[in-house]
Amino acid sequence: MSNEKLVTVSVIKADIGSIAGHHKVHPDTMAAAARVLAEAKRKGLIIDYYVTHVGDDLELIMTHRKGVDNPDIHGLAWDAFKKAAEVAKELGLYAAGQDLLSDAFSGNVRGLGPGVAEMEFEERPSEPIVVFMADKTEPGAFNFPIFRIFADPFNTAGLVIDPKMHDGFKFEVLDLYEGKYVILNAPEEMYDLLALIGTPSRYVIKRVYRKRDDEIAAVVSSEKLNMIAGRYVGKDDPVAIVRAQSGFPAVGEILEPFSFPHLVAGWMRGSHWGPLMPVSLRDAKCTRFDGPPRIVALGFNVTRGRLIGPVDLFDDPAFDEARRLAQQIADYMRRHGPFMPHRLSPEDMEYTTMPQVLEKLKNRFVEAKDYTKAGQGRTQGETYE
Ligand code: 13P
Ligand code: 13P
Ligand code: MG
Ligand code: MG
Repeated sequence: MSNEKLVTVSVIKADIGSIAGHHKVHPDTMAAAARVLAEAKRKGLIIDYYVTHVGDDLELIMTHRKGVDNPDIHGLAWDAFKKAAEVAKELGLYAAGQDLLSDAFSGNVRGLGPGVAEMEFEERPSEPIVVFMADKTEPGAFNFPIFRIFADPFNTAGLVIDPKMHDGFKFEVLDLYEGKYVILNAPEEMYDLLALIGTPSRYVIKRVYRKRDDEIAAVVSSEKLNMIAGRYVGKDDPVAIVRAQSGFPAVGEILEPFSFPHLVAGWMRGSHWGPLMPVSLRDAKCTRFDGPPRIVALGFNVTRGRLIGPVDLFDDPAFDEARRLAQQIADYMRRHGPFMPHRLSPEDMEYTTMPQVLEKLKNRFVEAKDYTKAGQGRTQGETYE
């Protein structure tokens, strides 16, 4: 576990409440979380940390030598969220404590509400990483870009050119409904992989490994809040960590898929499809129809465990056109109002408050055969109660 050669990057996030609706984390809650992490750094539990937010999601980026799923690290994140939630409650912020679904921490934040992406590796002489953080969407939103980064040579030139990547990558896919994993190899099993991950509400890419040496390349948070809480309490705004350069995709190849604002599930009330808009930290806040869904990319170098950075990678005019296209898609989708395919499918609406509305209409339905016999369409409302 405590191997000095290995470093772990843990990105743990939670929505602990936000100012003026589901808009944006309050700076005082970030400060409360940062104080907890600063103390842990002083004591040597973590090597380094960076606290930030994307929309209403508080993001803790930490480095340490304790490996993934470590109870001390998860406990630390839980404490930081608890402290931040206390401030949120005191300030009367909206949905204070939203993602802290349980009072009982028992060694791991998984299943309690927060989202987690963690990877442990031996640091290369230079270790660039990209941390992605999204708001108003779900873990499956990463299926499309992660596939393109690690399996699509039209996106990633390195798959063709770099001998270290030329064998391809292994994709660990999680079936969220069954709680089962399958590993598929790209390029050989690319079509099988796509058959699964094209259903992002059910199958999510959890991890990616480089095939030639099994080095970890990427990890995505996969927590689904509705599966934990049994009802809609907010979307499962996901995070991901991707390693870059020297045998992994270049940073530019990692960012490239986001030049196309693909449609993701989330947005207003977690119930609508909308374009994923790549933004800088400055614009990491959701406004229009509580969106559109946004994603931030922060670049770091991990150096002897320290987090050097960040650089705000989408803070660049090179992504202006993607943002403009996202606006146009947002206009187009919004015009559908409450109609599918803007609104999610009935299965995905199951965890929202819509079943309560449908419940009210249940007794007003009449068997079709009785209905036509009686020809009672004209008097409906008087007859059927
Ligand atoms: P590396 O192989 O050093 O990561 O460089 C790739 C590259 O040329 C980036 O465009
Ligand atoms: P969050 O999942 O970001 O809290 O958003 C909830 C919501 O319902 C937005 O309309
Ligand atoms: Mg929220
Ligand atoms: Mg959110």
